[in-house]
Formats: sequence, structure tokens, C-alpha cells
Amino acid sequence: MEDLMEKIISLAKRRGFIFPNSEIYGGFNAGYDFGPLGAPVENNIRAEWRKAVISSQPAVVEINTPVVIHPRVWEASGHLSHFSDQLVECKKCHHRFKEEEVKKDGCPLCGGELTSPRTFHLMMKSFLGPVENEQAAVYLRPETCQGIFLNFRNVVQSRRMTLPFGIAQLGKAFRNEINPKNFIFRTREFEQMEMEWFCREKEAEKWFDYWKEERLAWYKRLGIKSENIRCRETPTKELAHYAKKAVDIEYHFPFGWQEIEGIHYRGDYDLRNHMEHSREKLSYRHPVTQEEFIPQVVEISAGLERTFLAFFIDAYEEIEGGRGKASRQEKEVILHLSPRLAPFQAAIFPHLGREEKLKKKAQEIFQSLLPFFSVVYDEGGSIGRRYRRQDEIGTPLAITVDFQTLEDETVTCRDRETMKQIRVPVTQLPKLLAGLD
Ligand code: GAP
Repeated sequence: MEDLMEKIISLAKRRGFIFPNSEIYGGFNAGYDFGPLGAPVENNIRAEWRKAVISSQPAVVEINTPVVIHPRVWEASGHLSHFSDQLVECKKCHHRFKEEEVKKDGCPLCGGELTSPRTFHLMMKSFLGPVENEQAAVYLRPETCQGIFLNFRNVVQSRRMTLPFGIAQLGKAFRNEINPKNFIFRTREFEQMEMEWFCREKEAEKWFDYWKEERLAWYKRLGIKSENIRCRETPTKELAHYAKKAVDIEYHFPFGWQEIEGIHYRGDYDLRNHMEHSREKLSYRHPVTQEEFIPQVVEISAGLERTFLAFFIDAYEEIEGGRGKASRQEKEVILHLSPRLAPFQAAIFPHLGREEKLKKKAQEIFQSLLPFFSVVYDEGGSIGRRYRRQDEIGTPLAITVDFQTLEDETVTCRDRETMKQIRVPVTQLPKLLAGLD
């Protein structure tokens, strides 16, 4: 299974999905670089998340707040006092581990003696302005949702929001993880897609279940196999400092079942604490009854990179000997990515890459689709080889222009999944591409 991760990492780099960060300087352990095929997949994931959580919901709005916010936020949110790990270090090889990751007394790598645990703060510190002293100390946000709580009153007043409603935010978060590992699964810089759902206490349980089911269905709709995804209720002793109850959506990675998204019932923890620390009123007043209270919060919080990794692994298939006759004796890789997530929706080929008339026609079709769809043009190598190149990056459709096209304006469309080919009028291509699902 470890082997599978190596294959995924290698494919991701070779085909331009994900590159190591600062590679020419020997690499840097903060995050990863998303390449020409990875960045569109990220955009597609964001777009699908926005569609499901914001635009198709009647009462969810999106905001965008800075990475660096007032340092007192982290006092009120509890992160300054609670957001830490217990760190142990091997006295022999000097590797560091989270205490909870070490099962025995000795170092998991060399068996050496471990130091006693010390508290290690997970927030990344920086300084605002020219002077580096404690008055100028700030933190890079470890979660995006605090910007939402800070704007609760602004959003309610400016948009005349009535309960229940949600405020969403997508953006970078930073954690000084002791052990970044498993490729893009745990990094120090990553992106979150979060939504805080404000509601009444008596409805919180109902909304918690609603959002859990919505989120689970989202992953499945976008291709994750049912057997590879599950919900796990967080035991009380593992709950984050702000949570009354939590469920993790977990994916079955090659390195085990791991969280890709957290569903948290935060109660009124955040609004209440910000009210106390800022002395500003963050309660909600019902516009008709004038009843006033602090709303409860149900949070959904997904990691963009973890979600990406789960979709990528789930889509990966390797077939020894290949699928078609032409590819016998070879290993073939197919990325069964949902057409909604794939970097390209279609590839356009001239059947013979050296035939000027076919190239001209294929270019013409490619250029006509380009403003509306994510398409790629390829004229290099045999048709079989071009199909395999596209299968490997998850392109759902391959459109081939041949001599018949010049006569009757039809092309062949080859489906990535079934390898079936159908003849389609060029005028039907936009409809076909728009309907891919
Ligand atoms: N606001 C709630 C919150 O931040 P969390 O469970 O700590 O909750 C939510 O984080 C999600 O953020 C996780 O499910 C995961 O997908 C992502 N995440 C957290 N730490 C991460 C890291 N070091 N690297 C990559 N993704 C991470």
C-alpha cells in the first residue's frame, strides 16, 4: 500500500499535478506546489464546494478575510492557550514526534531514548511592521473560521440575515505541525473550505445531521467509492477545545483511515468568547419577536489538499497489460476522476498528426471550444498513445478529427471509462461537453 503512495506522488509530479516546494533549493517542508494540472483540479474542487455549500443553498453567504488578524482574536478563541501538541524528541537521532503518535517508550525510528514531553505551540508567529518585539507579534490564522465570527454582526446587519443561515470562507491556514507527512495530507500551509451555520439551540442537532449527510453525499457524488469513506464520532477526550461534539469524515488512505473533513458543534463558544473579550455585542435579535440570544454554531471544515488527495487516490487505477489491444504488454494508468474535477473535459486530436488538413480542422474545433470549456490539443504520437496520455490525467473525452470530418463535419468521441467511440456532429460538441457528469 505504501507503494501506491509512491506511484501517486510520481504521477502527480510527472504529469504536472503537484511538485515539491522549492525543489531547486533541495525542497522545503511547508507545503506543495500545484502545477498546471493540479491548479485546475483545485479550482474545480473549490467550485464544486461553493456550488454545494453556498450557491445552491438559500441562506449561505461567502466572505473573505485576511490571514493575519488582530492577535487578541487568538486569546478569545482559545488558540493561544489550547492549540498545542505534546512533543517528544529522540535523544539519539533527534527526530521529533507528537507524543500521541509514539506507541512505545523508545523512538519509532531508531529505538533511542525519548525526552519527556514538552508543549509545542502550533500557531505560526510573525511580526507586523518593522519592529520585531512582542507588541508587534501576530499569528497566521490556524483556521479560517475566526474571520467569520469577527464579521458575524457585519454580515447580519448588512445582509439582514435571519436564522438559520451560514457564512462561508475558503482560504489559507497555517499550523506549525511537528510532523508534516504523507505528501499533501499534512502540511504546514494548507487551504480550508469552511462554513459556520448559525442556528437556534433546539435545532442544532438537526442541522448537525443535515450538514454531515450533505457533506458525505458531496464526496460520493464526486466519485469517492462508498467503501472508502466513513464518519467517525470524535471521542470526548479527543475533542478540540471549542467543540461540544464532532464527527470526522474519514477517507481510507493507503496509510489508514484519516480525517478529510470535520463537522463540529461549536455551541456558542466563539461568539460568546469574542463578546467577552471585545465587549461588543454579538448576539442576534429576532426581527419580529425582538427575542435576543447568542446563536449556536454547526461548522463544516474541509481541507482542500486532503480532499484532493482522496479524490486522486480513489480515481487511480493501474491495469497490467492495458485495456485495449494496442496497449498489450504495457501497464496502463487510468484516472477515473469525475468530469467535474478533471483538469480537462476533453482532448482534441487530429487523427494523423502530420496531416495539415486534419491539424487545421482539429485546431479550428479546439479554438471554438476553448472559451467555454477546459480542453487540450494534442497531435503527438499514435492515437492509442494519445488516448493513454489522456486516460492517465483523467480526461473524460477524446475527440478525434479524421478525413470523414472534412466531408461531413462529424468527429469521433471516445469515452475514457468505456473506451466506446461514437460519431458526433461537430455542432453537438458543446452540448456533449456541457452534459458531462
Ligand atoms: N475550524 C475547524 C478546524 O480547523 P480541524 O479539524 O482542525 O478543524 C479542518 O481542521 C480540516 O482542515 C481537516 O479536516 C483537514 O482536512 C484540514 N487540515 C487541518 N490541518 C491540516 C494540515 N496540517 N494539513 C492539511 N490539511 C489540514
